[in-house]
Amino acid sequence: MNICVIGTGYVGLVGSAVFAGWGNQVVGVDVDQAKLDMIQAGVMPIYEPGLPELVAQGIRRGNLRFTNSTAEGIKDAEVIFICVGTPQGAAGNADLSSVLQVARQIGQSLDHYAVVVTKSTVPVGTNQRVKEILQETTQQGVLFDVASCPEFLAQGTSVYDMDHPSRTVIGSDSPEAIELVAEVFKHLPAAIIRCGFAEAELIKYASNALLATKITFADSMASLCDLVGADVVLVMDAVGKDPRIGAMFLRAGLGWGGSCFPKDVEALAYLASQLSLPLPQLDGTRNTNRRVHKRFVHKISLYFDGKLDGKTFAVLGLAFKAGTDDTRESPAKKVIMRLRGAGARVRAYDPKATEKAILDLGTTSLEYCDNPYETMAGADALVILTDWPEFKGLDLSRVNSLLKNPVIFDGRNMLDPETVEREGFIYFAMGRPTNGQRIINGKDTTYVAKLTNGAGLNK
Ligand SMILES: NC(=O)c1ccc[n+]([C@@H]2O[C@H](COP(=O)([O-])OP(=O)(O)OC[C@H]3O[C@@H](n4cnc5c(N)ncnc54)[C@H](O)[C@@H]3O)[C@@H](O)[C@H]2O)c1
Repeated sequence: MNICVIGTGYVGLVGSAVFAGWGNQVVGVDVDQAKLDMIQAGVMPIYEPGLPELVAQGIRRGNLRFTNSTAEGIKDAEVIFICVGTPQGAAGNADLSSVLQVARQIGQSLDHYAVVVTKSTVPVGTNQRVKEILQETTQQGVLFDVASCPEFLAQGTSVYDMDHPSRTVIGSDSPEAIELVAEVFKHLPAAIIRCGFAEAELIKYASNALLATKITFADSMASLCDLVGADVVLVMDAVGKDPRIGAMFLRAGLGWGGSCFPKDVEALAYLASQLSLPLPQLDGTRNTNRRVHKRFVHKISLYFDGKLDGKTFAVLGLAFKAGTDDTRESPAKKVIMRLRGAGARVRAYDPKATEKAILDLGTTSLEYCDNPYETMAGADALVILTDWPEFKGLDLSRVNSLLKNPVIFDGRNMLDPETVEREGFIYFAMGRPTNGQRIINGKDTTYVAKLTNGAGLNK
């Protein structure tokens, strides 16, 4: 099949390469010529395992190419996937300007029947709007259909995820269009869910909101565990063994971030607010997530008796999660900004995200290092902010010899408390009864008072 993919970011570049890998003729379109030049030169603008090889294979076989011209990209396309960004707008809404602009560009150039498919995450009503724009802009006699096919890949495993989706959702008001889009995915074992625009649009937001809520629930239980001296890892592992609940997304840490959950949860809340529908459960998820990194910095501050000014922290992790170079809405950035705001200096290391972090965070009071150990010499404490697996294998005696104080704040529950404490560290985790947690519970009389009063979590 001839496919055009518009937008070559995390979704569109991976999508282009995977669709080509399935044997389609694919043209990827992007307005960012510098990005296209990198891709053509075999340098990926994003870090995704397996992506460079797949792109190289498509270019070598001649069924994957890139252009900055929408008109050229859609020339022979039977299916056109819109994969441009839908960032958060000022009011919490999804900013649809790129999607609608692309719809206009398609309409102005389309000269044959094609199905225009929105893969970008867009709120209810957007596909109808795309259809109207196409009706306004296409030449008379040119037929088209619109479909919604939201993407569920996760950064860090996106090539695998696109090849092994849990389900494919295709929503349209045209059964023929649904079947044409289904042709692209029909060789995959995953179920194809055929529905209307609104269901397809909502399935994506409902999925992300529920996943975010699971994480937030685990974070809330971690806060409770900190107060009552229980181990959240044990608690949530056992909770997740119930097949009605499922084990995934129950790891307590620094909350959810990234380019999707924050904006998608906000956009869902915005949609409900526009319809005057209260969604207090979703509000709870959003508000609790905003507090997680504050609580973590509060822990650090409590240990240092509120004196972070002049301290130096060795930070491991900048990406919003392991497996990606993406720092958008990264909890690590929020923690670093708070530490810097309190007068601390930070030396940071991330295996993949340093370049992107420099663009966001700059270099004031922040030094970027080439390996984990370089961050540590003379630092007042080690702070783990991203769950990169390599941080589990730190040489703890080397860490101990480098740090000024043998103190670790582990925002991702990466390390084994028993081992770390045996190595002589004061260790803090998220919702685990560690020696460090016992120290600050003793220091913070409000914690103790709350515990004895049986009061809630809202510290
Ligand atoms: N990143 C994810 O993990 C993920 C997962 C599922 C769904 N999504 C959704 O997919 C969409 C894209 O996300 P992303 O992370 O790939 O975004 P991204 O920011 O990485 O990429 C978007 C790309 O679109 C290009 N672009 C913008 N306007 C354009 C135009 N008029 N013509 C051609 N190209 C244009 C940009 O230059 C950029 O390369 C969003 O709606 C997002 O919510 C993302």
